[in-house]
Amino acid sequence: MTTVLVLNGPNLSRLGSREPDVYGSQDLDALRSVLVADAADRATIDLRQTDDEAELIHWLHEAVDSSTPVILNPAAFTHYSYGLRDAAALVTKAGIPLVEVHISNPHARETFRHTSVISGIATGVIAGFGFDSYRLALRAVIGLN
Ligand code: DQA
Repeated sequence: MTTVLVLNGPNLSRLGSREPDVYGSQDLDALRSVLVADAADRATIDLRQTDDEAELIHWLHEAVDSSTPVILNPAAFTHYSYGLRDAAALVTKAGIPLVEVHISNPHARETFRHTSVISGIATGVIAGFGFDSYRLALRAVIGLN
């Protein structure tokens, strides 16, 4: 069965209590449950979170080596991490889908959030739909109806 890596960057371990007016009141375990249910028997969901840029980069290398599609919420790294961008480019240049997702709509927030250094090399970008951003990305990646 296909595995989908769902990678989450810094501070997303705090979902549920972090700015619930922006990110909602559900945590990462709830997100995992929703995606596992959506994927059913069509894909295995491997959801991870790290505050560590190097670890996130290594996970993208792993995706390249195993040809695993990626749903990536780079969180604050979105806005400035060229190292993460280069690692994400390795994924898409290998022909492996990588969908950038955001729970909020960064373009409707502070100016520094309007720049994504990831979007230019992502297969696609979905933002502003809460956890449904991930669910839509999963549909895009494994073609759910
Ligand atoms: C985020 C948006 C980023 O600007 C922010 O730094 C995050 C979460 C989102 O999912 O809406 O940590 O990626």
